[in-house]
Amino acid sequence: MDKLIPVIMKLQDAFNVINVRNQVELPQIVVVGSQSTGKSSVLESIVGRDFLPRGSGIVTRCPLVLQLKRIDVRATKGQPGVIGQEEWGEFLHKKGEKFFDFSKIRKEIEDQTMRIAGFEKNISDEPISLTIYSPNVVDLTMVDLPGITKVPIKGQPHDIEDQIKRITLKFISQPNALILALTAANTDLANSDALKMAREVDPQGERTIGVVTKIDLMDQGTDALDLLQGKIYPLQLGYYGVKCRSQKQIDDNMSIRQALDNERKFFQDHPIYSSYVDHLGIPFLADSMSQILRRHIVRCIPQLSRQINELLQTKELDLVQIDTHSFSIEGDKGPVVLNLINRFTNSYGDMIEGNVGRIEL
Ligand code: GDP
Ligand code: NA
Ligand code: MG
Repeated sequence: MDKLIPVIMKLQDAFNVINVRNQVELPQIVVVGSQSTGKSSVLESIVGRDFLPRGSGIVTRCPLVLQLKRIDVRATKGQPGVIGQEEWGEFLHKKGEKFFDFSKIRKEIEDQTMRIAGFEKNISDEPISLTIYSPNVVDLTMVDLPGITKVPIKGQPHDIEDQIKRITLKFISQPNALILALTAANTDLANSDALKMAREVDPQGERTIGVVTKIDLMDQGTDALDLLQGKIYPLQLGYYGVKCRSQKQIDDNMSIRQALDNERKFFQDHPIYSSYVDHLGIPFLADSMSQILRRHIVRCIPQLSRQINELLQTKELDLVQIDTHSFSIEGDKGPVVLNLINRFTNSYGDMIEGNVGRIEL
């Protein structure tokens, strides 16, 4: 079970490389929200590092497939100071190169964005794939999308809002996608772009996870409790409230670790939120996302295996006799999926740059 998310990451890599990602609907979490809702802030907080491009306007111009893989730190290295050495990122388009310097990860995302979407302010649906290995993350795979924007800025295509909506819909309309819908607490909640788009493709609220950001910026005397408790717009997977760094705190070089500390204190000391503290904060959100994703993958496996089978058949590959019957609803699917993907990657090995290789249980 523990290897389920890593296995899906391997599939994600494999499919991205051989360019069949539209034919197989992989379970993944897609992050949506208006520009400046706090998407980058939430993603960086979940990773615990600063690594995403910053700036005003549309910074994210193509999808970023972000995979987090938890690694074990050798027990001898007890001091927190050395942990940084154990964290690195790898891009699918630069297989084998380890980025230990997270500011270089940011630079590479910017450069690759230029290569994919051009130097203008255009956007593209071609993804950048980044994997971060760290002892401080939970296994998770997420897709960051360009933020929903209303007003084109200078140099931007006039239909930028439609383009972004089209890309967003393409990702979230896949029934296997979980939607992480971000709404800022200091905006009109009823008008949340993210919740509106989520509702279009998931009207029953079955695969949407609600996140309320910027809770610290609400007017004095108001709180987000009704929304968080699902009383305004119910979602089966619930709502999570978070507080990330303000622009001033980023400018003052506040570390994410410090920000997480602040966040915990903010909720603990708050007259209203203190009684709801189990559902608040980035660490709780990250853990919940990982659990929700794992459960979701298990549910998706029968369909996934069917799609992969169809794919293999349409490609007229004679390689696999996948034992579809062993994909029962109960039990540990890990070995079966591993077997499937090992066969898959072995067969596609030559086509997959750098070879995704065998997966050990
Ligand atoms: P994105 O456009 O959705 O990726 O949003 P960003 O993560 O870039 O955040 C936009 C701005 O809001 C930045 O200046 C952040 O510092 C600020 N911000 C994000 N989350 C919070 C929060 O929880 N509280 C406060 N006060 N500011 C936040
Ligand atoms: Na931004
Ligand atoms: Mg952003």
